Amino acid sequence: MKEQLIEQAIKMRDRAIAPYSDYKVGSAVLTKSDKIFGGCNIESSSYGLTCCAERIAIYNAISSGHTQFKALAVATNNGGKPCGACRQVIWDLCGDISVYITDNSRNIDTTSSKQLLPNAFDKDSL
Ligand code: THU
Repeated sequence: MKEQLIEQAIKMRDRAIAPYSDYKVGSAVLTKSDKIFGGCNIESSSYGLTCCAERIAIYNAISSGHTQFKALAVATNNGGKPCGACRQVIWDLCGDISVYITDNSRNIDTTSSKQLLPNAFDKDSL
């Protein structure tokens, strides 16, 4: 499943709409029931409206009826890490899951949502 998840994230880069940054990101999330949902970054001419690949993958899964997750993969050309906003959303919606970050050559950095966002602000803080 881990390999399939990473391959799906790499494939999702082809669907990215990134004419402004030219930085294509693909992501895929693995549900508790072993289904994989993908996402890609989608940019807007009003730059701030851009949505990252990780959030689109998670929202895709949730809007398809899946709310529990085991792992998430992110693919970029250079192994770039998830942005701060995505780290918060991954933590809030997925809890502590494995995160695989891969570059074009399949160099994989294995981490977790907790490692990416230590001392998180979340529902327990409210
Ligand atoms: N991007 C992602 O899709 N995920 C991240 O975690 C970092 C940034 C996208 C947003 C924008 O379309 C492009 O990468 C450059 O910032």
